[in-house]
Amino acid sequence: MLVRLGLLACFFCLVPLRICAQDPLIERRIDSLIRIMTLEEKLGQLNQLNGGWDEKTKRTALTEAQRAVVSKGLVGSFLNVQGADLTREFQRVAVEESRLGIPLMFGLDVIHGYRTVFPIPLAEASTWDPELVEQSARIAAIEAAAAGLHWTFAPMVDIARDPRWGRIAEGSGEDPYLGSMMAAARVRGFQGRSLTDSSTIVACAKHYAAYGGAEAGRDYSTVDISERTLREIYLPPFKAAVDAGALTLMSSFNEIAGIPATANRKLMTNILREEWGFKGFVVSDWTAVAELQRHGIAADKAGAAIKALTAGVDMEMVGGLYVEELPAVIRSGKLPVSVVNEAVRRVLRVKFMLGLFDNPYRNCNPDLEKKILLSPPHRETARKNAQEAIVLLQNENHLLPLNKNIGALAIIGPLARSRENLLGPWSGNGKAGDAAPLIDEIRVKVSPLTKVSYAAGCDSTFRQLEDVDEAVRIAKGADVVLLVLGETREMSGEAASRSELGLPGVQLELEKRIQSTGKPVVLVLMNGRPLAIPWEAANIPAIVETWFLGVEAGNAIASVLFGDASPSGKLPVTFPRSVGQIPLYYSHKNTGRPFDEKDKYTSKYLDISNTPLFPFGFGLSYTTFAYSGLEVSSSRSGGDALIELTVNIENTGKHNGTEVVQLYIRDEVASVTRPLKELKQFRRVRLGPEEKQTLQFTLTKNDLSFYDANMSWIFEPGWFTIFVGGNSEDVVEARIEIR
Ligand code: NOJ
Repeated sequence: MLVRLGLLACFFCLVPLRICAQDPLIERRIDSLIRIMTLEEKLGQLNQLNGGWDEKTKRTALTEAQRAVVSKGLVGSFLNVQGADLTREFQRVAVEESRLGIPLMFGLDVIHGYRTVFPIPLAEASTWDPELVEQSARIAAIEAAAAGLHWTFAPMVDIARDPRWGRIAEGSGEDPYLGSMMAAARVRGFQGRSLTDSSTIVACAKHYAAYGGAEAGRDYSTVDISERTLREIYLPPFKAAVDAGALTLMSSFNEIAGIPATANRKLMTNILREEWGFKGFVVSDWTAVAELQRHGIAADKAGAAIKALTAGVDMEMVGGLYVEELPAVIRSGKLPVSVVNEAVRRVLRVKFMLGLFDNPYRNCNPDLEKKILLSPPHRETARKNAQEAIVLLQNENHLLPLNKNIGALAIIGPLARSRENLLGPWSGNGKAGDAAPLIDEIRVKVSPLTKVSYAAGCDSTFRQLEDVDEAVRIAKGADVVLLVLGETREMSGEAASRSELGLPGVQLELEKRIQSTGKPVVLVLMNGRPLAIPWEAANIPAIVETWFLGVEAGNAIASVLFGDASPSGKLPVTFPRSVGQIPLYYSHKNTGRPFDEKDKYTSKYLDISNTPLFPFGFGLSYTTFAYSGLEVSSSRSGGDALIELTVNIENTGKHNGTEVVQLYIRDEVASVTRPLKELKQFRRVRLGPEEKQTLQFTLTKNDLSFYDANMSWIFEPGWFTIFVGGNSEDVVEARIEIR
């Protein structure tokens, strides 16, 4: 019976995911299951375990202890179990040995690719190319699904405005609009058109919410923000993910103004379910339910489990408090079983939508797994993403692109030879051997007559200078020096906050030694966060931000350095001059005393300017673009459109190039203060030399609306400034009154 109904359910799943989420057939199948489940089996569905470990083989394995709980139906999901064969083994026990045969769901952190590792998310956000980002998520899903997975703990959609926070690498930067576009693109990519397609996996928007607002940029730290900041800045990417059909969310480790997110009913029930109509389920972060005790809002394990479940955390990731504590709690009448039933319903709904009841082994196909991982088309998309993600920060006297026939090139810095670091943090099932080091790719790119020499200059973790005399020697003998510096991949990601934002360790010293040779220097940066590099900006003529670009990093960087591709990436986050300026972001408020150089009593520092080193949206190209003729008018198209605008953009340089045209607004006078600029749209435009294009944009009422003093979303008529440009600072502008 289940199988037959399942086929029908599959048919209905061909319609978009959100409608499917309320499929009456699925709901009836869930009803009939819940009716026959014991309390322990129900709580089992809410229990997620970490895959077991076999000490002998040093691999994840199904341990005897885990086999016992799976066969009793006491676990609903595993994380960190991957591979078509291994997942099949786990699934077989669940389906064939447990009383009800409810299939397991396998989840993993597939953050920027599974085996084909793509640029880290912050780098992908630098492409400002949601279609391309959707493609990389699609490929990640295809590969992860072929390796037996059903679920990724991605996208991470946390807005981050503090580069000290290591997890800034995993998100899309500082801006809620860009972040929302990237969030939706990734959800579309992971989940595809229909989850019953076995090349899709369920997305998990995380970490709900405001995890990126950690005080002092210290991971897991307190967050204390206003409801306005929560709704205007941190929540939009989650809403965008939900609107794009994301079927799971992960609650975050942090508290928000005294209420830990994992016990936050307002977030997980009022906003997520009641306001947004979310029909999927929420999983906690790793042991976050138990951590409610340390937060000091639960006296014991049972109290923690009750708080999390009643707030809306349906599944507990590791910790086991739900299965341990809740049977007694429910039997004593302290918590109605209906709360458990609702959470079970949400989990089962997603399993039904995945088609797991009809084909529990849908993703267990070792042949496909072998064939598809790291396939040439996947690598090709990774290369395209990597190329587009590169941000040219500085290029004095057109030092770049370099000539392939250059006589002698000195390459200095341990990252030039590294494979592993190119993969960045959270690199799924990526293997260092899949990524060619930058130096190898450069050797392929330059003429056979070019003399390429290398010296590390310092050790691989930048603690001490090594080989520095040799580095200086080869620099002196070179036409151009490539300094490849930055961070190791362990320096960003989870639990990797830093208090300083310069190049770590002895790298500045190394740079100074090399720069004093007087040779032209190109600094190639590899790192997972914005860096504060004022010395470099003042002393090194060319600076290329390459983040961690994944398996095709070397190839992509070499292509840009030698002019096969013109850089088009734009910063998704502000680069400060100093750590002391943090938080520094483009969409700040004016204040009552905005910066005035001549007036001491205005908002500023005694020792540093207010301005960033490189602003949000910034990135150079090998060509140049000019904006002109911005014309703004009230919309005549009716409906919600309020403003129409046209602007001319011209490629005024000598190369082909792609510009990311950015549109910002300012609401000049409103009932609550508004930011000086807010990004509302952007468009990538490719132009040949001297080519010109007129672009049209439409702004809707929604684009001009905001939360008023009572947190109602409203539009207020009045004057607006519209800005268009290639970054958040260099813009053309026009004003318009909307009545
Ligand atoms: C903790 C991290 O915060 C979360 O992002 C991740 O998904 C889980 N660990 C599982 O690895």
